[in-house]
Amino acid sequence: MRVLITGAGGQVGRELVEACADDDVLAAGHSDLDVTDRDAVLGIVMTHRPDAIIHAGAWTAVDACEHDIDRAFAVNALGTRNIGDAARRVGAHLTYLSTDYVFDGTKRSPYTEWDRPAPLSVYGRSKLAGEQEAGTDSTAIVRTSWVIGRFGTGGFVRGVIAAARSGGPVRVPSDQRGCPTNARDLAVVIRRLVVERHCGIFHVTNQGDASRVELASTALDWAGIDTGLVEAVLTSELRPVPDAARPEYSVLDNAALRLSGLPLLPDWRESLAPLVRALGS
Ligand SMILES: NC(=O)c1ccc[n+]([C@@H]2O[C@H](COP(=O)([O-])OP(=O)(O)OC[C@H]3O[C@@H](n4cnc5c(N)ncnc54)[C@H](OP(=O)(O)O)[C@@H]3O)[C@@H](O)[C@H]2O)c1
Repeated sequence: MRVLITGAGGQVGRELVEACADDDVLAAGHSDLDVTDRDAVLGIVMTHRPDAIIHAGAWTAVDACEHDIDRAFAVNALGTRNIGDAARRVGAHLTYLSTDYVFDGTKRSPYTEWDRPAPLSVYGRSKLAGEQEAGTDSTAIVRTSWVIGRFGTGGFVRGVIAAARSGGPVRVPSDQRGCPTNARDLAVVIRRLVVERHCGIFHVTNQGDASRVELASTALDWAGIDTGLVEAVLTSELRPVPDAARPEYSVLDNAALRLSGLPLLPDWRESLAPLVRALGS
């Protein structure tokens, strides 16, 4: 399988490159391919004619998106239009990465693939627009959430451990509940969806849900750090107050995977343990 991966230098992109190690991978980081450049997208796809494109490139700075709506939509929506256009021209299967932030969090029971999105933020709206651009004819839309992983300098778990090591307190919102998802687990399932050319929306997260406080406390505990450093606060009490609204509840039911008989990812706790080890704790 010849596969083009966009955003290949990102947290998920790097895991996708590893998960596709047995394939003929064209790993395009941001500096190799800017998805807002239509000519560049068509050029690379027409030249290499991949069997599949995994579109992991996105502007993911959730709070910054509030201040540059045009950039958010240029990258996340129009960039996906360019990728979709190119994929159709060569008959490539497309996988578009999307987010739990397409939901407003008012449901209070796990969101299925058939629940109606209602994003609260510019980022969420731009990612939903990307879903609309990707379509579902020959595309898998993979919505994931609360990605944690060994790559990248940011990330919630890395940030919590670093803040605690520098003495804390670690102020963490108690009013956000979701499904932590290990990027490595996610990448493995995405590859399977690609190989089998699944189409339609799939929620793909680790099983089980957590508040940010539970996730932070568990990570610190396993890193051998005093969990008493975690200070539970409301999102509105964080300083600075985040610019973008987040859903209070964005637990994703992986219904499409489950009903298709495809394997579900392990519980998030099971996938957090090796990550805490990999982060050198
Ligand atoms: N992280 C999460 O918790 C989470 C949750 C739900 C869904 N997702 C989705 O999962 C996907 C991967 O996210 P991630 O966590 O891997 O984020 P990430 O680490 O920020 O990776 C995104 C990559 O896209 C690149 N990029 C930005 N603008 C681009 C452009 N115009 N053209 C091409 N590439 C561009 C970025 O490069 P630069 O850094 O150089 O700009 C970065 O390498 C995204 O679609 C995201 O919306 C993530």
